[in-house]
Formats: sequence, structure tokens, C-alpha cells
Amino acid sequence: MTMQTTLTDSVEEAAALLNAGGVVAFPTETVYGLGAAICHPAALLQLFRAKGRPADNPLIVHIYRIEQVAEVASAVSVQAATLIEHFFPGPLTLVLKKNRSVPYSVTAGLETVGVRCPANPIAREFLRLACCPVAAPSANRSGLPSATSWEAVMEDLDGKIDCLLRGTPSAIGLESTIVDCSGGRAVLLRAGAITLEQLRAVVPEITTIAVTEREERPKCPGLKYPHYAPRAAILLSAAVEKIDIKESSAAYIGISEQPKGVALFKVCSSLEEYGRELFGFFRLCDARNISVIYCELPSDEGLGRAIRDRLMRAAGLA
Ligand code: TXA
Ligand code: MG
Repeated sequence: MTMQTTLTDSVEEAAALLNAGGVVAFPTETVYGLGAAICHPAALLQLFRAKGRPADNPLIVHIYRIEQVAEVASAVSVQAATLIEHFFPGPLTLVLKKNRSVPYSVTAGLETVGVRCPANPIAREFLRLACCPVAAPSANRSGLPSATSWEAVMEDLDGKIDCLLRGTPSAIGLESTIVDCSGGRAVLLRAGAITLEQLRAVVPEITTIAVTEREERPKCPGLKYPHYAPRAAILLSAAVEKIDIKESSAAYIGISEQPKGVALFKVCSSLEEYGRELFGFFRLCDARNISVIYCELPSDEGLGRAIRDRLMRAAGLA
């Protein structure tokens, strides 16, 4: 089924379409989100369909001010309150016990809900004008790299959603850090721009999820699905100077100087730039029919942990 997708710069127009039960993509500082109001069941269904998202993968609920946490969560632990105080609004999602206003279609049947308050001013204005909190996965077709520009959203979802609120390219370019605060001890479920070091500076006991545990009982259901994958093969390298290019259509992204013989490359001056450019570069490589993308694998420190995580998933190694 195709529909007319309204492309707009007007937050009011986008919010009106959302409030009328539409599915509306909007910019945030992490990646673009694909929103549906949690009080519109039909819109939530349409959202899953447009994205090609499995129904057992829960959505993050977005709010525009901290006080709204109480509208969707039934309990906020001391650790959660500390994280909210330090990192909301921003690129952090907290998993909390849900309350009755959040439908199970949003949480995929779970008793918990992911809650995020984005910092991007357009996102906050859009969420302020929304009739209720907004469930939003990343605005890409399931399995493809997240959309970090409005053009990427159009590429994946034109004709499948009601509206795209146009904004600037995502400032961070990687999805939010997710911390599960619904149980006893806080657990990092997905690395992001709020780093493990930053989290531990305020909540020292935060743990990371062991790979074996992740396989047996995925605490973050989405992590079991293939992610962020361009059509091109992804090859990871910690030692760029040793890469030997044989293909005529190879590409490279990383921080070190590019290997000789690549058809397309992006040399970033910082981890921040690497994170911001990664998904857009994957999409560019597909558009240019690149067959293999060599990616420099950063170390696990700071933002390196999040970039590593996305690279490993894109390469099918996690
Ligand atoms: O930065 C972001 O988080 C972006 C923007 C739009 O906010 N959203 C995003 O959503 O990345 P999505 O759906 O692509 O990824 C959300 C992840 C999925 O892996 C999902 O399984 C997990 O969060 N998740 C959502 N609710 C959860 C819950 N109650 N318990 C555990 N994991 C949850
Ligand atoms: Mg996603």
C-alpha cells in the first residue's frame, strides 16, 4: 500500500498529522525517529508495517520533559532518578517498569518500557505538541542502517508513512545508549553517545550484558535481529596499514589514513565524526555499488564502544 508522504518543515503540521493518528518521522540528535502516538492503536500498527518491524521488538517512548516519565513508568529507582537528573534530555533511554497508559503493542508484551527525552529542539517541540507520548523506533526499514538525514528517511519510507518532519542531519548519528533500570541493578543494554564511563561516574555499579546471557535471554529484544547492515560486505580492521585492497569497488571509513586502492573513503578526525558519519557512509556505499567496506575498529573506550558495537553488528559478528 502506498500513500502520499507529506514532507514538511512545519512542526505544527507534523504534530497535527501525528495527533490525527498518522505515522510521522522526525529528527532527533541520535537518529531520525518514526513516531506514532501511543494513544492511537491503529497508528502503532501502521508504524510496525511501514518499518517492516517484527511485533516482538518493543519501541522506545519519547517525551519532551522529564516530568512526563511518570506518565509512562510506574516506578523510578534511585539509580534511574540519578541518570535522569544527569542525562535527560539527551541520547539516553531508560528501561523502566511500565504503567497502564502504555499499550503492550508498544512494549511487545513486556512489563517494561524504554523512555527517552531527546535534546534536539525540533524533536522537543514536536513532542510538546503531540497529544500523548510518542513511540518511535529509528526511521529506517528494519535491518537497514538507521537514518541520520531526512533524505535517508525518504529513501526507506517514502509512500509508507504520513509525514516526514525535515530537520538537519543527526548531530550524533548513533542510536541512544540504553540502560535497563527495571530490575535490581542497572545494566547497559546498548552502547551510545552517553558512554559507560559517563554512566559509571554517576552510577558506579552499572554492569554490561554478557554475550552468553544475551543469547539465552535477550533483555533487549531488538539486539537479536540483524542491524545496520548495508548490502556491501563489512570487513573490520584494527590495523589499517595492513589492509590489502584487491577489489575494484572497495571503500574505507575510519580515523587512520585510507588504504591504497579504495574507490570511496571517509577519514574522520575524531570518534564523534566517525559515529556521526557511519550510517550515512554505509548508505552512500550502497548507492555507489561498493562491494566491500573496510572499517577501522576503534578500541572499547568512550564512544569507541558504541561504534564498535554497530560495526560488529553490521559485520554479522554480534
Ligand atoms: O536513539 C534512539 O534510541 C532512536 C531514536 C529515534 O530515539 N530510537 C531507536 O529505536 O533506536 P529502535 O527501535 O531502533 O531501537 C530501540 C531498541 C531495540 O533494540 C528494542 O528492542 C529496545 O530498544 N527496547 C525498547 N524497549 C525495550 C524494553 N522495554 N526493554 C528492553 N529493550 C527495549
Ligand atoms: Mg533501529
